[in-house]
Amino acid sequence: MADIPVGSCCMLVLVCFQVLSADVHRGHYIAAVYEHHVILNPNPAAITSRRSALQLMNRNLDIYEEQVIAAVKQVLHRLSCMALKNQVFLVVNLGTKQPCNHSDRRCPPDGRYHFNTNVVFSDSGTLIARYRKQNLYFERAFDTPPEVDYTVFNTPFAGKFGVFTCFDILFYEPTVKLIKEHNLKQAVYPTAWMNQLPLLSAVEFQQAFAVAFNINLLAANIHRPDLGMTGSGIYTASESFIYYNMEDDKGKLIVAKIPITPRRETNSNMQTSFSNSPMDHQICRKEDQEAHCEKAETGAQEAPPIFHGEMMYDNFTFMPIMEAEGEIQVCSNTLCCSLSYQRLFVSKELYALGVFDGLHTVHGTYYVQACALVKCGTLDYTSCGQEVTKATERIDFQLQGNFSTAFVFPLLLKSGITLDFADYLGWEKNHYVMQKKGASSGLITAGLYGRWYEKD
Ligand SMILES: *[C@@H]1O[C@H](CO)[C@@H](O)[C@H](O)[C@H]1NC(C)=O
Ligand SMILES: *[C@@H]1O[C@H](CO)[C@@H](O)[C@H](O)[C@H]1NC(C)=O
Ligand SMILES: *[C@@H]1O[C@H](CO)[C@@H](O)[C@H](O)[C@H]1NC(C)=O
Repeated sequence: MADIPVGSCCMLVLVCFQVLSADVHRGHYIAAVYEHHVILNPNPAAITSRRSALQLMNRNLDIYEEQVIAAVKQVLHRLSCMALKNQVFLVVNLGTKQPCNHSDRRCPPDGRYHFNTNVVFSDSGTLIARYRKQNLYFERAFDTPPEVDYTVFNTPFAGKFGVFTCFDILFYEPTVKLIKEHNLKQAVYPTAWMNQLPLLSAVEFQQAFAVAFNINLLAANIHRPDLGMTGSGIYTASESFIYYNMEDDKGKLIVAKIPITPRRETNSNMQTSFSNSPMDHQICRKEDQEAHCEKAETGAQEAPPIFHGEMMYDNFTFMPIMEAEGEIQVCSNTLCCSLSYQRLFVSKELYALGVFDGLHTVHGTYYVQACALVKCGTLDYTSCGQEVTKATERIDFQLQGNFSTAFVFPLLLKSGITLDFADYLGWEKNHYVMQKKGASSGLITAGLYGRWYEKD
């Protein structure tokens, strides 16, 4: 491979790596991800030229090498204690450069492409795969590869792993195509993700991604709380092992034993518990919508107000939840979101159901269809959509939307940026449904984040 490492990157600099290893027990393997505290330029916005960015990366290369060696030692130590040292695969993100031809119109003036690259080393230390980031996130130092990389590598203990990085997780190319074409059950995902509540906190979306595709996802973020970057995890479709720490500068190694085949509770089981659910009768299904919704309206005092508010830079249509229990519906363009809710105790907290169906255009262009029950910042409607990290109110709910895309990512974020799993998830005719009852802590976000890739 002609790639020459030039430093670590992603948002200019990223250091993170992941180690995979075979488990002594059949059917499982050990995954490890490391959230690394990386030293970045104190003012990344000041880096305007490619040249200064590359200089920064070269300076970081020294630190990078040191840190990786130290970290690998630590990991290797842990794993060797488990007698696994011979089957460690390592995935590292770094910057690489590749000579190009000036007859190629896209070749930069210095005659080299610079890529944000993940490299994969096998258990024998051989470089076996590389992935060049497709969806750059305002990374001026880097080029988009001339053709899309669809990267998988094979392991003797868990078969094929897909590789993608950072912002790629929101796009069809290469991520979704890769998973579908190779029928992947494992993916590794180094990232430098700036958390954005209420819908795109790193751990929140990483879990949603693993659940939506029913895969194991090994995600290593970098650790920079000052930049809003923290949140790594090892995710199966039914369990998450995460690290999220905004309090100090400690990096963290996460190690977990996970099943090779992600096991989501079977649909039929969930279906049964779903149809026995006491909340079932509250759903406004299409066929009984008129009769049932009329009944609901008779009981209601007056319809809650509809208002607009900015959430994640998008113009959401909101409706507050006003009662101890009830059901509401809000629509935007062709997406209608309905919520049946029952508050376990009514706190002095404001929650609202928001819907957005449109092209997101700030910090990237991509089409979103989203239904989200969020805790608002204050008791003021204008605070709905703000970033909130604490909540006390526990709410039983069923949230659904008639999405136009099959790609819906279920978000369930609780107080203190902890994660929860829905009791039921799935399609009911043309509605995607999420249900959760008996939560043990306050709700920050319950969301269905749809990506309509064709409309990007
Ligand atoms: C650039 O193109 C020329 C002419 O096609 C070729 O001879 C040369 O090997 C190319 N160089 C690289 C770096 O690809
Ligand atoms: C949000 O959308 C509504 C309805 O389309 C519109 O009336 C309102 O002006 C929009 N708000 C902003 C800030 O664009
Ligand atoms: C969703 O439901 C609303 C209200 O019934 C309807 O107007 C809209 O066309 C539906 N959207 C889709 C994609 O079916």
